[in-house]
Amino acid sequence: MIDKINQIKTDIESFNITNEDSLEAFRLQFLSRNGSIQSMFGLMGQVPKEEKASVGKAMNEVKILAQSVFDTAKAELISTKVKYFGASDDISLPVEPTYTGSFHPLTQALDEIKQIFFRLGFNIADGPELEDDFHNFTALNFPADHPARDMQDTFFVRKSDEPYSQDLVLRTHTSPVQIRLMKEKQPPVRSIMPGRVYRNEAVTAKSYFQFNQVEGLYVDQRVTMGELIETLVMFARLMYGSNVKYRVRPSFFPFTEPSIEMDIWWENEAGGQWLEILGAGMVDPNVFEAVNIDPEKYTGFAFGMGVDRIAMLRYGIDDIRLLYDNDIRFLQQFPS
Ligand code: DAH
Repeated sequence: MIDKINQIKTDIESFNITNEDSLEAFRLQFLSRNGSIQSMFGLMGQVPKEEKASVGKAMNEVKILAQSVFDTAKAELISTKVKYFGASDDISLPVEPTYTGSFHPLTQALDEIKQIFFRLGFNIADGPELEDDFHNFTALNFPADHPARDMQDTFFVRKSDEPYSQDLVLRTHTSPVQIRLMKEKQPPVRSIMPGRVYRNEAVTAKSYFQFNQVEGLYVDQRVTMGELIETLVMFARLMYGSNVKYRVRPSFFPFTEPSIEMDIWWENEAGGQWLEILGAGMVDPNVFEAVNIDPEKYTGFAFGMGVDRIAMLRYGIDDIRLLYDNDIRFLQQFPS
């Protein structure tokens, strides 16, 4: 019996494992259910009592040897494969994680906003970022030299070959697109107008010199304030879930009368606070007159929301600058 065991031991040691086939042959010969080691255990009954202990020990040793030769050879085969081919088809091996790229959180938030307003029957319109005073201010009922213009911290733009004037501006809001839309087309109008806007503000965690807005405009016969509020509440629910806590407050904008703002309740570790997400109101008759729409015949509502603020609330981002740094470690946290 001991001779047989020694023979198996020699066989194991001289077995040449060079590839997956010979590895499998080794396993069949020594380690499988019908292999030589297992059959030897089956002969235990024939071993005289006083030899059982030593024979058993020798058999166990040979079994352990076979297993370790097998494991080592297998690991080596896999690592050779990885070295030469850069990959293995052993699915138990850890895989280097790869980042496939994703949409920017602002794009993701904007997509959600668009989807919500598509469901509510709005289409998309857009306008230029470089605006003139008429569209950005005058037609929106900002009186000349009125302090309301200061609310907006405007960047004025000068064409290099012309004398300085205050006529060209980087748009301070997306509301001028309302004017362009209504100049082009008589009601009904039901559009949203996403876009980038600019303000000459200090850069802090809460403010930036550029950000994104989505303007909304709905003009038709007998559009009411009730429809405005219903639309905004529907938006808040679809964006933040039906449990969202919101409030609507009176406010002032030159281009709407009456005007309101909507706040969302935002919980954090420190407790919670109301955060403004949009301004809105009923289109002021002076605005209709500036674009030749009859205010006796038509009414409408408008709103303007901050996409950055909405994205920050949606994703729990507490510093607006993160949205513009393009730090890959930040962006990777928003797979899409
Ligand atoms: N344009 C305003 C702003 O940038 C936001 C706004 C308020 C837009 C009321 C509107 C509106 O259309 O009706 O602060």
